[in-house]
Amino acid sequence: MVFETLEWIGGIDGHLELIDQRLLPGEFTKLKCKTVAQLWDAIKTLAVRGAPAIGVAAGYGIPLAMQAYDGSELKAAYAHLVKSTEHLAESRPTAVNLFWALERMKTYANSFIANDPNCSIGEFKTALLGEAHAICRQDKEMCKAIGVNGEKFIKEGSGVLTHCNAGALATAGQGTALSPMYEAHANGKKFKVYVDETRPLLQGARLTAWELTQAKIDATLVCDNMAGVVMKAGKVDAIITGADRIAANGDVANKIGTYTLSILAKAHGVPFYIAAPSSTFDLDIKSGDKIPIEERDADEICEFGARRTAPEGMKVFNPAFDVTCAENITAIITEKGVIEKPNTKKIAAHLKTDKILKLK
Ligand code: MRU
Repeated sequence: MVFETLEWIGGIDGHLELIDQRLLPGEFTKLKCKTVAQLWDAIKTLAVRGAPAIGVAAGYGIPLAMQAYDGSELKAAYAHLVKSTEHLAESRPTAVNLFWALERMKTYANSFIANDPNCSIGEFKTALLGEAHAICRQDKEMCKAIGVNGEKFIKEGSGVLTHCNAGALATAGQGTALSPMYEAHANGKKFKVYVDETRPLLQGARLTAWELTQAKIDATLVCDNMAGVVMKAGKVDAIITGADRIAANGDVANKIGTYTLSILAKAHGVPFYIAAPSSTFDLDIKSGDKIPIEERDADEICEFGARRTAPEGMKVFNPAFDVTCAENITAIITEKGVIEKPNTKKIAAHLKTDKILKLK
């Protein structure tokens, strides 16, 4: 990619630098996060967003947290770390990658101390930064592998529709839903992408349209309520979206509007693919109705730009995500392969396969 969505600058005293996605496409500005509070705010306000990117950012939240610990007691350092994970976990509720990364950092810290109880605080901090880097590196590898595994679903001369932004801006690498498109493009395939605008925060119009334009991929922007028309006109041969959390049975939480698209896809006989790394699966949740869905501020719907578009005091329902039932999904593409017609049994078996990524 020609840009790094998020990048740790320096050593254990360094900081996390993020593309400030609130400002795109008008401004390309890097935001420095030097404290956990700044990172929390960046996640909450969507300066960094997209499930995998939130996970990677949260991983780097731990080295940031450790900078604020100036004692020399390992036990106290660990307690401080745990408190910081609890705080970061409150930034957004739906994308499971956030909790996955925090849990991974906590488990790593715990076993590091257990293996080397006499290590210095400096060694502990260095090891934690190393683990955060590993999460980031693996996310890049998973994105690439999702692209390789999903490329075959993009046929020469076809039309593909996507929703929200599940591209490089939503990950540390080349994205999830957009990754097969980057691979197909690199392989010289010609295809068109229809980009859903994605109301209310316009991740499609602001971010996906920007990304695909940078990559010189043929992209056409449509409002969310135009998706049916383009499908009816026979212009869409496949839909690929990302995911924020996938339940054990294959139900998928993703950006609001994804469920509606899956119904439209069914009605028009269009295959509906989800592209997501294994860090997006939550096997502790049996089915989608148990996935916590973030509700956001009413102003996101009552205003367009800075202009008020709804009467003052209007009642508003603004869920940021919805759940697409597994039966509406043709296949889930992961870094390990493809799960066709996903269900509990197939997902459990798929995630157990130890296909180790060796893509560089
Ligand atoms: O609210 P956002 O912008 O964080 O929502 C992002 C999405 O819904 C993406 O589709 C999802 O996180 C997958 S990103 C690879």
